[in-house]
Parts: sequence; C-alpha cells; structure tokens
Amino acid sequence: MRNQKINDNPDFGIVIMAAGKGTRLKSKRAKVLHEIGGQPLLAHVIKAAQQIVAAEHIYVIIGHQADAVQAAVEPLGVKFVLQAEQRGTGHAIMCARDQVASYQNILVLSGDVPLIRKETIASLRDFHLGKKAAMTILTAAPSDPFGYGRVIRAGGSDRVKAIVEQKALSKSQQKEREINSGIYAFATRPLFANIDRLKTDNAHHEFYLTDMAALLVKSRATVVALKASDPAEVLGANTLAEMASLDATMRARKCADLMATGVSIYRPETCLIDNDVEIGADTILEPFVQILGRTRIGSDCRIRSFSVISNSQIDDNVLFRPGCIIDQSTIAAGAQLGPYTHVRPGSEIGENAHVGNFVETKKTRMGRGAKANHLSYLGDSDIGPGVNVGAGTITCNYDGAHKHMTVIEEGAFIGSDSTLVAPVRIGKGAYVAAGSTITEDVPADALALGRSRQTTKEGWARERRDERAKAKAGK
Ligand code: UD1
Ligand code: CA
Repeated sequence: MRNQKINDNPDFGIVIMAAGKGTRLKSKRAKVLHEIGGQPLLAHVIKAAQQIVAAEHIYVIIGHQADAVQAAVEPLGVKFVLQAEQRGTGHAIMCARDQVASYQNILVLSGDVPLIRKETIASLRDFHLGKKAAMTILTAAPSDPFGYGRVIRAGGSDRVKAIVEQKALSKSQQKEREINSGIYAFATRPLFANIDRLKTDNAHHEFYLTDMAALLVKSRATVVALKASDPAEVLGANTLAEMASLDATMRARKCADLMATGVSIYRPETCLIDNDVEIGADTILEPFVQILGRTRIGSDCRIRSFSVISNSQIDDNVLFRPGCIIDQSTIAAGAQLGPYTHVRPGSEIGENAHVGNFVETKKTRMGRGAKANHLSYLGDSDIGPGVNVGAGTITCNYDGAHKHMTVIEEGAFIGSDSTLVAPVRIGKGAYVAAGSTITEDVPADALALGRSRQTTKEGWARERRDERAKAKAGK
C-alpha cells in the first residue's frame, strides 16, 4: 500500500503499462526492452514519470518476460504489478487496483510511448484536476493516424464521447485525425467503480482501457481530452520501423540540446549520441561519430569521423583522430589519439599523452606525456610519464593461465619491436634496445639488449649470384 512517509504528491500515483508482448515487432525481446537513444523504452517512460512523482509511487505493470523487464528497470526503484495473463490494457489496470486504489488520482502511461516529456505529463495532470474530470485523455493529431484509437469528441468541445480503436472505426470515423496517445489521468473512485463493466466484445477479445471513456460518459462522469502540442511526443512503437523513427527523433532532440549548449556537430543526422551523454562547449564532432552510454566529454575536444566512444570520461582538449574505439576508460586533458586507436576497458591515458595508429591498450595507465605512436599492444601495464614506447612494442601479459603486469618507469625508452614478457619492470630512464625480448627486470638508467648479436658475411651475396649465373650457363 501507499507509503505515507515520503509522499511528495499524495494525490497521484503513476501506472505504467508494460506487460504486453509486442507481437507486431516480430522479436523475441519484450517490446518495452527494445532500445531507443541507448536505453529501453520503459526506462525513458519511468524517467519522465520520476520527474512527476517519487519512484515509490510508480507502478510498472509487467507480464510478458516479467523477470527480464523487472531486472532491467529495478535499479530505478519503482514498484511492480504482475499481470500474469495479458488480457488487454483494461485488464492491466484491474490488476493494479489493490495497489493504487488509495490514490485519489492516477496517471496511466504506456511503456511503449517513450518520447513523453515531464512538462506534458504535468499539464495533463493539471488539466485533469482543473476540469475535475473522471478521465482525461492525452491526444494528438499526427499526420498519419492509422493504427491508433481515435478520440471522438462531443461537438468540438473538451468533452469526449468515446475512444474507437482502429479496427472498429466506421467509414466516417476513419477521417478522425485526433488519436488516443495511450496516456491518461483517472480519478480512481469512478475508474474502479466502473472498470468491472469492461467487456471483451472486440477484435482482440481483450478488456480495452479505452472503453472506459464511453462507460464513464454513460455513468455521467466527466471525460475530457487534452491535445499535446507536439504529436511526435506521443507516438508509439508497434513495429521496428516505428522504433527506428522514435530513435531518430530522440537522437535529433539530443543533438539539438547539445548544439544549444555550444557543441558543434557536423551532419548531426549521421551521429549516434545516447541520451545520458554529456559534452562540454566548443567540442566538435565530425560526421559518423558515436558517443554511447554514460560518456562524459569535456570542452574543446575534437572527435573526428568514425570514432566510437562508450562509457568513458574524456577531459578537455582531447583530439581523437578518425576511427578511435574507446571503451570504459579515462582520457586526460590534451591527449591525442588515433587514427585507429583501440582503448579497451580500464585504460587511463594521461595528460598530453599520445596513443597512435593501431595501438591497443587494455587496463593500462599511460603517464603524462607518454607516447606510443605506432602498432603496439599494451595490456595490464603501468607506463610512467614521458615514456617512449617504440613502434611494434608488445607487452606479453598472458601466459595462457594468468595475466601479468608490465611496469615501465618514468622516462624509459622502449626500442621498436620489443616484446616485454610480463611480469617485468623497466626502471626509470632505462633503454631497451630495438628488437629485444625482455624477460628480466631492467634497472634504472641501464641499457638492455635481449637479442642475438648480428653476424655479417662479407661478399656472401655476390658469390651466391655468381654461382647461380654459372649454373645457368652450364645447362
Ligand atoms: C493502445 C490503445 C490505442 C492507442 C495506442 C497508443 C487500447 C485498447 N488501445 O493501442 O487506443 O491509440 O495504445 O499508443 O488500449 N499492455 C499491458 N497489458 C496488456 C496489454 C497491453 O500492459 O494486457 C501494455 C503494453 O505493453 C503497451 C501498452 O499497454 O505498453 C499498450 O498496449 P498495446 O498493445 O501496444 O496497445 P495499442 O494497440 O498500441
Ligand atoms: Ca502500442
């Protein structure tokens, strides 16, 4: 039952319907777990709801793949209602009755209408209270109303006579362009006094919540409609094509928000930026960049094309040349990466460090001003400030069973094509000769050569050529 302790808005609970299967998606995954803007549909709806009431007053109705849906959004702190058998949107609300009947009003949102904004939910709530309505329907007039329930008003007034589902529309009703968004406010007393009168005499043999409109009108209660100013906000996702268009809308919104705060995005329609990403002013994103998950990027960075940055922290003034892949790592101010650098989880790239083309790092710390400019694998390593890692250097961090650390202390110089067999430590200021295989620690300021000495045979090539020429002539 309702928690009386922390109760910032005791008059309203929010119910989110998310038990349906989403047959029209033709997907194994529950519809509300499909993602737009990098998050499940349901998470977007819950986040909007949380800006209206506290999570403890939000009730998510789950059914199809209930465990997976619950697990995906449980961290948001909401409550759950099980609708074991999905017998329609009206039945979903019947299932929530015991938990929400003590609120004076409830707002009902759809788990598959994810672009809804808190301002719109708040204006629905206020309009509903102002009209003292039993039911208030949020509507919209999109250019193509096909597939949605239509709201039939009483002669152009606020008053609604009924909601008619697409399949039940008469010829003349098919011209109605005002659609039901699937988002409502209800006064709980008339709702639950009438909800058992819903019938299943319709195309799907389900209890339709939409039929509450006509039922309440019949019982002389007030049913009104409020039209959303932006139809894009209440569009649903019943097919993967619709899902893609909601995703595009959400990402366009995100790019517009970022550009409004001083981020330059060239050809924003080619960039994929998840909803939770933060980017500082004067950072420039070139075309075909992806910034995903909980990534935070500072100011004055430049991210060139085809870079994909996920769940990472980037300071100011960082340059990503084309094609960098960065995951779960931190990059300090002034660093320069790429082209084609692969920074794998747990890497920390220091201030003004350079990590160049075809260099892969994993759980590796690069100190201030350290450089690894070409063709290297640096795994499980701690690389000090000012170290120079030559082209083709490989840390051999894995012996087939365990991972081992490589430590390269400040100012050391690793010659090209060296293999550093971990665990191993290269001391401060030491040199490793090019082409070395280093298996033992190198003390500070030493030179280590881990390769066989060169043998040179004078005249060998000329003699070989002469012999061949003789053999050919003799044939
Ligand atoms: C519903 C409305 C329609 C409206 C449209 C807006 C009905 C009968 N129709 O149609 O008027 O224009 O939304 O998007 O309500 N759900 C449950 N339990 C169920 C059935 C559905 O929780 O038993 C959930 C679904 O997971 C979904 C939401 O309710 O999140 C809406 O269900 P859906 O089947 O998508 O309804 P629509 O056909 O879109
Ligand atoms: Ca729907």
